[in-house]
Amino acid sequence: MRTTLYDIQKMKAERTPIPVLTAYDATTARIAETAGIPLILVGDSLGMVVQGNETPISVTLEEMIYHGRVVVRTTKKPLIVVDLPFMTYKISAEQALASAARVMQETGAGGVKLEGGLEVAPTVYRIVQSGIPVIAHVGLTPQSYHQQGGWRVQGREATAANALLEAAKALEAAGAFAIVLEMIPITVAKVISETLHIPTIGIGAGMHTDGQVQVFHDLVGLSERTPKHAQHFGEAGEVMVRALRGYAEAVQGRTFPTEANAAELSDAAKQAFEDSLNG
Ligand code: KIV
Repeated sequence: MRTTLYDIQKMKAERTPIPVLTAYDATTARIAETAGIPLILVGDSLGMVVQGNETPISVTLEEMIYHGRVVVRTTKKPLIVVDLPFMTYKISAEQALASAARVMQETGAGGVKLEGGLEVAPTVYRIVQSGIPVIAHVGLTPQSYHQQGGWRVQGREATAANALLEAAKALEAAGAFAIVLEMIPITVAKVISETLHIPTIGIGAGMHTDGQVQVFHDLVGLSERTPKHAQHFGEAGEVMVRALRGYAEAVQGRTFPTEANAAELSDAAKQAFEDSLNG
């Protein structure tokens, strides 16, 4: 049985910190599940991590559905939430409903995540009223990369910090079952976490949020650059490079493959084959 949104909310009620991780494919999803991650986010950060872009802006709904379906198919236990990508939910509430419905039907995910503050609260309300669980996302919202002037901490001034608090309250009232707080000051995240009843999931928002979310590759040493808000808990990149150098050397030294890595003819078949070659 998969983790439900109620299990996630219970973790807040019981003050159990919630580890959330991105995954984009069968391999990362299986590893995250094996590590016991209760909530996997198929984030549109795949635009950077998988597709090599600077921002997630070019990611399409079709691509999110493709990756979402793979992650759902290859896991059994975690709750899977899929990001609604750029401009698939901001044109109208109808457009948002249609996008969220496609994600739910075509991936089998347990919910969607979307970015934005007060302005998306009515949309969150409509989606939730349609029976689709929603995670909200405020602070640094990567789909607004250009408007926010890059990867910058948000809510540094009192007015902006208050606006974040008001937005978070409105998104909770609209029915979001959790909210991502990305790159906002520690005190602002703490106040929001203490004010809301739903779990806050921080990334670059300090240690007082109810959960943390990180990009898989940033934690295991597979990213080109590790952001300040992340930490390596392992050096998978180095392990992989060592392994692949070993492979290249073994091929060049003719120590790989061996007979154990392939099939061979039986003695009788070999003899018959050789006879046939000799006419
Ligand atoms: O796209 C993503 O992976 C995200 C998280 C990092 C919060 O939005």
